[in-house]
Amino acid sequence: MRDREGLNPTGSSKDCVTNNRRIIVKVPASTANLGPGFDTLGMALSLYSWIEMSVPRTGETVIDLVGDGWAGIPLDKSNLIYKVAQLVFAEAGVEVRELYIAMYSDIPLTRGLGSSATAIVGALAAANALIGSPLSDDRLFQIATKLEGHPDNVGASLFGGIVVSAWDGKRAEMVRLEPHSDLEVLVAIPAFQLSTEKARDALPSQIVRTDAVFNVASSSLLVAALASGNLELLGYAMRDRIHQPYRAALIPGMTEILDKATDYGALGAALSGAGPTLLALVDTNSLRKAELERFLVRTLAKEGIQAETMWLKPCGAGPQISVLQDRETGGSLLERIKGEVKA
Ligand code: HSE
Repeated sequence: MRDREGLNPTGSSKDCVTNNRRIIVKVPASTANLGPGFDTLGMALSLYSWIEMSVPRTGETVIDLVGDGWAGIPLDKSNLIYKVAQLVFAEAGVEVRELYIAMYSDIPLTRGLGSSATAIVGALAAANALIGSPLSDDRLFQIATKLEGHPDNVGASLFGGIVVSAWDGKRAEMVRLEPHSDLEVLVAIPAFQLSTEKARDALPSQIVRTDAVFNVASSSLLVAALASGNLELLGYAMRDRIHQPYRAALIPGMTEILDKATDYGALGAALSGAGPTLLALVDTNSLRKAELERFLVRTLAKEGIQAETMWLKPCGAGPQISVLQDRETGGSLLERIKGEVKA
């Protein structure tokens, strides 16, 4: 995790209650599963959320959601970011009851791009930085995995790059892979939301052995291909039999896109996380990018689904933390990040 302005990692927790720091954390979106690696594989993407956190000098907690798309998100102490921050303080043995929190996000909510994982990781990183970073990245990973219920999105947002992870319900382990420099990511984001809960409810509780073997083989091959830079294998290795087929009815057009994306120049394609976003991995030198993008948009449009496309890169870094020593300086969150946001 990068600390851009030299936070003292050994800052004492006693300082924290009176500290004047203002923390701004930039956290990458993520795509989970990459096809066969259900609840296991994740990759950070060059699309971001920003969370600001400080201790208000006087008064009570204020939660400021900047920009559009936040309908239904609570602005009181039931807010996820506030609650996650309190977990960090409790674990560190400090008390910080009132917080100023601001958030801005370019990551659409409930579309399979890890927005909730970004909020969890951003809140953990910001709260930890606010009190002098007493908790290790591993500790933050354990907390994030438990909160999210699986390590794939939170691992990618926390460590950047491609993260291969496992969780046995007690402890999560991970290995980070550096994404190949030629990898580019096309996402088609349908104009409808799909909750992870609904997309998980569509899955069977048991699978047959042949499908289990198919996925073990595909996921293993995919990790080996990504680790060794063998991008030609991605189309073969990204096939899945344990979640995508069951989710297909929730995302009309998905099956055709997954079956044919390689015919239109993709290296491989998958449902992004629980969906509904569809993702194609592409060689950045490909001359067929526009053709592939048209195929995705046209296939979804045939089903009456409008979709926004974005060309992204794998993001190599986890949270980037800025520590301003004086909470009164530096302008609003949006003023500080305006050169970096999409809009
Ligand atoms: N691995 C998760 C799933 C990601 O596919 O349900 C979504 O949060």
